[in-house]
Amino acid sequence: MRVFNFAAGPATLPLPVLEQVQRELPDWQSSGMSVMEISHRSKAFIRVAEQAEQDLRELLAVPSGYKVLFLQGGATGQFAAIPMNLATWASTVDYVNTGSWSKKALGEARTFCGKVHVAADAGGKYTSVPDQKDWVCTPDAAYLHYTPNETIGGVEFPFVPDTGGVPLVADFSSSLLSRPLDVTRFGLIYAGAQKNIGPAGLCIVIVREDLTLHARPATPSVWHYRKMAEEGSMSNTPPTFAWYVAGLVFQWLKQLGGLAAMGERNRIKAEKLYAAIDDSGFYSNPVERSCRSWMNVPFTLAKPELDKTFLAEAEAAGLTNLAGHRSVGGMRASIYNAMPLEGVEALTGFMKEFERRHG
Ligand SMILES: Cc1ncc(COP(=O)(O)O)c(C=O)c1O
Repeated sequence: MRVFNFAAGPATLPLPVLEQVQRELPDWQSSGMSVMEISHRSKAFIRVAEQAEQDLRELLAVPSGYKVLFLQGGATGQFAAIPMNLATWASTVDYVNTGSWSKKALGEARTFCGKVHVAADAGGKYTSVPDQKDWVCTPDAAYLHYTPNETIGGVEFPFVPDTGGVPLVADFSSSLLSRPLDVTRFGLIYAGAQKNIGPAGLCIVIVREDLTLHARPATPSVWHYRKMAEEGSMSNTPPTFAWYVAGLVFQWLKQLGGLAAMGERNRIKAEKLYAAIDDSGFYSNPVERSCRSWMNVPFTLAKPELDKTFLAEAEAAGLTNLAGHRSVGGMRASIYNAMPLEGVEALTGFMKEFERRHG
């Protein structure tokens, strides 16, 4: 029996996609093999790879001056690949620190750049996004990096930063494809797949072509944007299964009406869950209202001694993986694209009932 899986990642995938994978698995496209067993250089797989890129480009309206790469090493690999490709040791790189993930990204950048400048810092509890008028940016920075959606804190930027001419680099791991996005505002967008895109093992990078041209000589070829772009992301064996499933997810998104339709679904889901939290005297969410995430909703119970009971009873009701990140505790419901409205309604119904019995 399927449960409503609120995990932050790897996360729930659309059921129609899983069913298609199941149907196709033993004998994919009458090849007598599964897609996992076929060469990445075969015509059949190249078609899958190209179609996935085309669908992703269509969903996000990616202009032709951008390369779309399907890489390995996760978003964490990109924490290193970005400074290696976009900056020298002597460059200044700007980072905005709004939570655990931006902090990790800027920590990794310090290994590769002598001048990592924190342009803005939400500090301490990470429950807000600093107003852009208070940021101190470096006019000639090699790039400015930020994390549009902090998966752990549940903080999402309500705006795209304006950087003048400085390339804007964004870790969209937990919110890419959750609503429409103007790609032209960005120099580089990256996202680990295992939340809103597909299985773990794949990392999508969308990068403006001119930013692929100045990688450091020591950049590993698997993370060298220009080399990977020239090789169709196949200078080595790519994660073929993850790529194939991501392609099916893109098709599912297109069938549902693309990112505008998905954004509307996500807005409704998030509003429902935040309303259930705010309308109760029992649950609370610490994030400033203007920057509450549509994807990751952390909340605490008025009686933390009931956390374990809450999780156990939720699990028994088919609502799983609601524990908050180990660094913050409490609860967190991740409600990515593949979480249906019924899942959120089941959760809010359960929360109400739990409060009635224990509040
Ligand atoms: C915003 C964000 N950035 C980076 C990462 C790290 O991704 P990966 O495990 O693919 O390296 C995560 C993973 O949860 C994330 O949520």
